[in-house]
Amino acid sequence: MSTVGIIGAGLIGRSWAVVFSRGGWDVRLTDTDPKALAEAPRLLRQSLGDCARHDLVDDPRACLRRISTVPTLEEAVAEVDFVQECGPETVSEKARIFKALDVAAPAAAILASSSSAIVSSRYAEKLAGRARCLVAHPVNPPHLVPLVELCPAPWTSKETVAAARCIYEQLGQVPITVLQEAEGFILNRLQGAMLAEAFRLVGEGYCSAEDLDKTVREGLGLRWSFMGPLETIELNAPGGIADYCARYGPFYKRVASEPPSPNVFSKRATDKIAHAWGPVLEPEVQAAKMRWRDDRLAALAAHKKRAKAFRK
Ligand SMILES: NC(=O)c1ccc[n+]([C@@H]2O[C@H](COP(=O)([O-])OP(=O)(O)OC[C@H]3O[C@@H](n4cnc5c(N)ncnc54)[C@H](O)[C@@H]3O)[C@@H](O)[C@H]2O)c1
Repeated sequence: MSTVGIIGAGLIGRSWAVVFSRGGWDVRLTDTDPKALAEAPRLLRQSLGDCARHDLVDDPRACLRRISTVPTLEEAVAEVDFVQECGPETVSEKARIFKALDVAAPAAAILASSSSAIVSSRYAEKLAGRARCLVAHPVNPPHLVPLVELCPAPWTSKETVAAARCIYEQLGQVPITVLQEAEGFILNRLQGAMLAEAFRLVGEGYCSAEDLDKTVREGLGLRWSFMGPLETIELNAPGGIADYCARYGPFYKRVASEPPSPNVFSKRATDKIAHAWGPVLEPEVQAAKMRWRDDRLAALAAHKKRAKAFRK
C-alpha cells in the first residue's frame, strides 16, 4: 500500500486527496489552518459522493477511510512514498514548505508542488534532495480534470520524472512533460494568452463580457473538450495544418503583430472587466456554483471515459 502526504487542505489539496484515495493510496492530509483541516472530511465526503453518482469511484466510503487528517507537516510526510504540496502560491511559502519537506520526508519520497506558475528552481536549488523535487501542476479540480504538467528543474533526476509520470498514470491522470522550465508551464501560458486577448476585446468594446464567454462556451470550447487546437486546425482545411496555415496564416500573422499590451492586466483594466461581468457572488452562491461546475465536469469525465479516441 502506497502513502501520499498532502500539504494544504484547500481546493487543490482536497481534490488530490480524492485522486490518491480513489487510486487505492493512503492519504495524510495537513494544513496550518485548523479550520481548513476540520472542514476537510465533510467536503471530501461530498466530493467522493458526487463522484460515485457519476460512476467515477467504486467505494467512496473506503476512499474516505484511507484519508486521515494530521496537524503537522512532519506527521503528514513521516512515512510516505510521495508528497503533493498544495500550499499558497508564493515563492517564499514554497521555499519554506520544501525546506521542511526535504528534512521530514523519507529520502526516497518524491516531492511534487502543485504550483500554478512557479518553477521549482526558484526555491529548490539549495536543498540536499533537490533531485527529487519537481512541479506537478494540476487543473482545478484534479479529481475531475486529469491533466497534470510535470515540470522538472535542471537538476531534477530523470528517475524522479519517470516515477512521477508512472504514479500519475496509474492514478488515471494524464501527465505531460514541460521540457524547459517556463513560468506558468504550458497550460497557464495558453490560458494567459487567451485571457489577454479576451480582456482586450471586452475592455476596448469589441463585444460584451457575456458574449465573450459564449464564444468559448458555445464555440471553441466544445471542440476543445475532446481535441486540442492543433488537431482542431488539422480538420479545418482539407490539406491539414500546412493548408490551414496557408489559408489563414496571414490573418493570424497580422493579429500577432499587434499583441495585447500588458496593460490589459492593470488594476484599472481588470476592474472594468469585473464590473462588466457583474457583482461578486455571495459565498453560498459561489460554493453552489462550484458544485454545479464539478457536477458538469463529472458528467463530462464519465462521458469521456465511455467515448473512444479516434485511431487511424
Ligand atoms: N485553485 C486553482 O485553480 C489551482 C489550480 C492548479 C494549481 N493550483 C495551485 O495549488 C496550490 C494550492 O491552491 P488552492 O487553490 O488549493 O489554494 P487554497 O487557498 O484553497 O488552499 C491553500 C491551503 O494551504 C494552507 N496552508 C498555508 N500555508 C501552509 C503551510 N505552510 N503548510 C500547510 N498548509 C498551508 C492554507 O491554510 C489553505 O488551506 C497553489 O500553489 C495554487 O497555485 C491552484
